[in-house]
Amino acid sequence: MDYKNILFESKNAIAYITVNRPKQLNALNAETIVELNTAITIAEKDKSVRCMIITGAKNKAFIAGADIKEFANHSKKEGEELARKGQELLFDMLENCGTPSIAAINGFALGGGLELAMACHIRIASDNAKMGLPEVSLGVIPGYGGTQRLANLVGKGKAMEMITTAGMISADEANKWGLVNHICQQEELIPTAEKIASKIMRNSPMAIASAIKSVNAGFKTGVDGFEVEKKEFGNCFGTTEFQEGTTAFLEKRKPNF
Ligand code: CAA
Repeated sequence: MDYKNILFESKNAIAYITVNRPKQLNALNAETIVELNTAITIAEKDKSVRCMIITGAKNKAFIAGADIKEFANHSKKEGEELARKGQELLFDMLENCGTPSIAAINGFALGGGLELAMACHIRIASDNAKMGLPEVSLGVIPGYGGTQRLANLVGKGKAMEMITTAGMISADEANKWGLVNHICQQEELIPTAEKIASKIMRNSPMAIASAIKSVNAGFKTGVDGFEVEKKEFGNCFGTTEFQEGTTAFLEKRKPNF
């Protein structure tokens, strides 16, 4: 598969997906969103891939948002369609993907860039990273799920402040607010993501996918997360991975998933 706007490589059970438009600070145009959808779909289907690391090319930006040049002349209808299609194709599918994803935030993560990081399951940032949802400064609002996911991650009050001021916060502040799980120096970013990935990869992929589904269920309107958890818990029983995990424990050895 040839990509124009992203780099995609699978190595040691990790899919590395890099948004590669450094001249535009990796801004997300429609074509990039489709390519990301393709790469994530391929990674999810490939059972040898156990974790995804998503980052931006070069060391200035993770992703500086949706491509402003592309939507500057959109009508109301086209604007709504942009948000709807983007959320469906990328942000929602990534959040609901059974293969865990780590956003390695290597610089500016603004607008759609922060929204993409928030759709990942885990976020780590380099200490030079800056994060924000500056859309109201452009006369628009976050449209790739930012109003919802930011409030879920940092609480309504801080989300309201970040969104209405359109300001950026530092990696330190993002860590303090729980927006990112870890911070490190830029050269340590991918190794830190790989360390987390290697811990994830010791565990049952089937159980991880069930856990992701259950955690996400608690954030969906009209879905009872506890009910989903009970069902998913039950679904693990009788599977080969459940057998391997419990047998390995009883035999005092490490499981081989
Ligand atoms: N879209 C398109 N192009 C972008 C871009 C974006 N989001 N962000 C940066 N670029 C381009 C710039 O236009 C510039 O291109 P040219 O050299 O051709 O002029 C190039 O990337 C480098 O950017 P700057 O010269 O601006 O770099 P800087 O160091 O002076 O500033 C920055 C860096 C503060 C990140 C600044 O680029 C910036 O503010 N970018 C826009 C951030 C933003 O508003 N993001 C939200 C987008 S809207 C959105 O995401 C909507 C949604 O939720 C769906």
